[in-house]
Amino acid sequence: MIGNHDDRDAFRAAFPDAPRNRHGFVQQVVDTPMGRFVLLDTHEPGRPEGRLCEQRLEWLGEAIEGWSGPLFLFLHHPPFPVGFDRMDRIRLQDGDALASVLARSNASIWHLFVGHLHRNVAGSWRGWPFTGVRGTSHQIALDFTMRSDAPVSFEAPGYGVVLVEADGVIVHFGEVTS
Ligand SMILES: [Fe+2]
Repeated sequence: MIGNHDDRDAFRAAFPDAPRNRHGFVQQVVDTPMGRFVLLDTHEPGRPEGRLCEQRLEWLGEAIEGWSGPLFLFLHHPPFPVGFDRMDRIRLQDGDALASVLARSNASIWHLFVGHLHRNVAGSWRGWPFTGVRGTSHQIALDFTMRSDAPVSFEAPGYGVVLVEADGVIVHFGEVTS
């Protein structure tokens, strides 16, 4: 998934075979034996916050229409605040609209995966479980008092390993140590 630091044209040039939808957004459906994975493009050129415009949301609605099995969503910008003022202001701006599309579907939403926060964070949003993992570069400090800045920290980069089983999802958190 591309995020705020990416460039859609550069991405297309570097990955010409990467699927994109009819409007040119880097969104795709990956059907797996464990469920439908939907990858969303929340990049908004020149802006740190994320957007899902009408075109992207309409595509999502079509992508999950008629699907009643497990659904996994992947998007860079979290659609909800997490308590970090600066990061919350540059979250996905269209969370309500996204939730409306999801709530209208018959899909069983098993998990949302987000980036952007550069921290391990997990919880639920409107009843749907979510996970985000550390950045592969710097991290954002665990500091709920900073108001105007996103305090960078140099905790180790991290990654997640997701195990999707027939009856649930397990997320492991790994650290990159040198
Ligand atoms: Fe980001």
